[in-house]
Amino acid sequence: MTERTLTIIKPDSVEKNNVGAIIAHLEREGFRIVAARMMRLTEAQARAFYEVHRERPFYDDLVAYMTSGPVWPMCLERENAVVHLREVMGATNPAEANEETIRALYGESIERNAIHGSDSPENAAREISFFFPETDLV
Ligand code: CMP
Repeated sequence: MTERTLTIIKPDSVEKNNVGAIIAHLEREGFRIVAARMMRLTEAQARAFYEVHRERPFYDDLVAYMTSGPVWPMCLERENAVVHLREVMGATNPAEANEETIRALYGESIERNAIHGSDSPENAAREISFFFPETDLV
């Protein structure tokens, strides 16, 4: 079933000029880009996006990091998109990510881990609408 998910190319990837390589990697994996933008998150946006983690000890650092530079949110589409993106992305901690995954190739720490990917179809729908109105999904 064709499905949509959300990725965010994070500030560490933008800073290191890895945006093009990461997009090429995703395209090779069969993802179609349905929407994309480059932006700098405000503190309020980062807090709201990561609301589910608000009780976690790393929440404030995560918000500070995600607002430290530009990011690229993108809506991606393919068969089984949520699960496939999580496979291609690799484990949260790049040191534990399988070889050749995006986080193994481009991440450097559990915080500076290259990209975000939605963890369920329900969260994908919420996260896509967080960044893109329906009319931007093309
Ligand atoms: P992401 O997939 O964007 O979702 C939440 C983020 O919190 C996660 O990637 C990590 O970059 C970040 N994070 C920082 N510290 C931790 C931690 N100890 N456990 C899980 N996630 C963490």
